[in-house]
Amino acid sequence: MLVCFASQKGGAGKTTLAALLGERLAAAGVQVCLADGDRQGSLFALGERARGLPPVRAVYPMQFPALARDAGLTLLDLPSGLGVEFHAALEVADAAIVPAVPSAFDLRTLPATLAALRKAQERRDGLPRVLLVPNKVDLRETLSKELLSALRELGWPVTRCWLSARSGYRRMGAAGLAGLPQAARRAAEAEATALADEVLAYLVLPGEQGAAA
Ligand SMILES: Nc1ncnc2c1ncn2[C@@H]1O[C@H](COP(=O)(O)OP(=O)(O)O)[C@@H](O)[C@H]1O
Ligand SMILES: [Mg+2]
Repeated sequence: MLVCFASQKGGAGKTTLAALLGERLAAAGVQVCLADGDRQGSLFALGERARGLPPVRAVYPMQFPALARDAGLTLLDLPSGLGVEFHAALEVADAAIVPAVPSAFDLRTLPATLAALRKAQERRDGLPRVLLVPNKVDLRETLSKELLSALRELGWPVTRCWLSARSGYRRMGAAGLAGLPQAARRAAEAEATALADEVLAYLVLPGEQGAAA
């Protein structure tokens, strides 16, 4: 099963989410691999530094179909934009996770991303399933509240959990969750675990419950 992380804007949290969910799912005993489909190699570099992260491989679009055929779960970090990697992932991914942050610029780019995903779903009998994830949320600011309501109005599935704006997530880029001071790590872990549980529940289709048990 292949789950990709896509957004047109850079900085939305694709790499952060892929790393966090990978770490949390691995901690929960789920067999998961990380694939870095971005030539910038941020996730791959993090994999070399961070403890607790599942194995990370750098992959090219021509390898995406094999990742999708694999019975195990692979989380695929894509580059920003609607380029070759995004379009290759659309054709084979089982799900696409689209992070969105409180920024008018980001919200404005969402319709194009979602339109491409909708077209793929029409061709592929509903795949990839799409899940929007609010990121960098700070409920003290109006823009964050606006993000949550704007996402819900789009009519696509939105997670009930989100990632707050936390310096811990920024610092995590150096050594992963395990590298954070304990208090910061606990808070980040709790939030990311809830999100990982929600994503996992979404990925397990009703007909697969028995197979997964
Ligand atoms: N919830 C968050 N709180 C604070 N900083 C975050 C959060 N999510 C991501 N970041 C930071 O924002 C920057 C962009 O995130 P990243 O995951 O690299 O985005 P993308 O892969 O979509 O370009 C990174 O410096 C990352 O550490
Ligand atoms: Mg990235």
